[in-house]
Amino acid sequence: MVVGFRRPKNLMQSLETTDDSPNGPAPGRVVLTERDIRRRVSELGSEITRDYAHDPPLLVGVLKGAFVLMADIAREIRLPVTFDFMAVSSYGGQTHSSGVVRILKDLDIELEGRSVLVVEDVVDSGLTLHYLLRNLKMRKPKSLEVCAFLVKESRQRVELPIRYTGFEIPPDFVVGYGLDFDGRYRNLPHLAVLDGV
Ligand code: IMP
Ligand code: MG
Repeated sequence: MVVGFRRPKNLMQSLETTDDSPNGPAPGRVVLTERDIRRRVSELGSEITRDYAHDPPLLVGVLKGAFVLMADIAREIRLPVTFDFMAVSSYGGQTHSSGVVRILKDLDIELEGRSVLVVEDVVDSGLTLHYLLRNLKMRKPKSLEVCAFLVKESRQRVELPIRYTGFEIPPDFVVGYGLDFDGRYRNLPHLAVLDGV
């Protein structure tokens, strides 16, 4: 730490305190540790740095789930990338996709002629991403690729061109590292299976 920069004392709160519903669904078995994730995100960042060396992309984060990956991967990409965010809603309080996607916040930046890399948290049925890609393609980007933190095995109901995948995982419902259940657990630094659903 640089001299003169100090961390305030007594402000660290245990992550355990995020779980205030002992009888409802709660994070269980850890399936990816913080270390597993850090290592893989670093690899992805290197790949992206290499692939886009001559054409730094516009990173489009899909809110809310991708905000954690976006922050981490951005610092592993050694290129002058730019950023924008979109917010979509697909599930409400449910754990299964309705296939109905609503754009809650659109991009601020025009995509025409730009190399766009969509940063997504998880691809389950693939319906959300399918809808998004169709929508973004109409804006005539120069290229349109996807980086997904998680892809659930054997769940996709549509064919999707995912260029960068963090991890392929079994079809359990998981929380942490940006992924929520009913708005909670996004700030867990690891990925855990949600028990009790
Ligand atoms: P899809 O449309 O079925 O691919 O679902 C995509 C969206 O559903 C993701 O962007 C997440 O917001 C949410 N989702 C899917 N699976 C999970 C999960 O295991 N945990 C948390 N959110 C999930
Ligand atoms: Mg998402």
